[in-house]
Amino acid sequence: MHYLFVMTAQPKELDARIIPPPSRHQEIFRTFDALAPGDAFILVNDHDPKPLLYQFQAERPGRFEWSVLEAGPERFRIEIRRRTAEGPRTVTDYLEADHRRLDAIAADVDRLSGEGALAEAGGRFAEFACGLDRHIVAEEQILFPAFERMTGMTMGGPTAVMRSEHVEIRGLMARIAGAIHVGDGAGAQGALQQLGQVLGMHNVKEEQILYPMTDQAAGGERERDDLVKRLQAL
Ligand SMILES: [Fe+2]
Ligand SMILES: [Fe+2]
Repeated sequence: MHYLFVMTAQPKELDARIIPPPSRHQEIFRTFDALAPGDAFILVNDHDPKPLLYQFQAERPGRFEWSVLEAGPERFRIEIRRRTAEGPRTVTDYLEADHRRLDAIAADVDRLSGEGALAEAGGRFAEFACGLDRHIVAEEQILFPAFERMTGMTMGGPTAVMRSEHVEIRGLMARIAGAIHVGDGAGAQGALQQLGQVLGMHNVKEEQILYPMTDQAAGGERERDDLVKRLQAL
């Protein structure tokens, strides 16, 4: 039986809510295994599928990206992508890939806002906001404390700068949400452009300094991969 629905432009959706529980995980893994490297599907569920993430980490280690597009309370949507690479992850490769993923969604929001398609822009922005919020929380609650513990660099160090930039980023996110809410496409595009500048510089600093330093301080391949698993399971 096939449960995949074709969506326009976005990856296909697999609605786990209509799959009988005994065969649910089996069907999800079958869908994943049928993906070509680089392709994705979107899992739709009525609860946080965290146990499934742990099962993916154990049974398909290093072979997937798990990106939360919508996090409840009624509906959860997770983009599960088959990586073109496999094997143990580094903090740098994992979080860099998330930056690129979010950049691509922001470009969609900008294009849709410019076309006056505010409802669609709002839907895509919600996915962007969900992803960026989780990215920032994972950095602040898991990555930065690990970096500070391993390097002894706290006040006045790179994490302090990153935390203050996160405050600015969150402020710009609120402005975009407000502009979309009142139907102001040009206002949304203006704030998005500002966010793009701030986020662009922020991401470069993380990718060139903070993430590689964290990977180095973590010690070995196993420690880096464990840190990535914790970031993923936020
Ligand atoms: Fe950050
Ligand atoms: Fe980041």
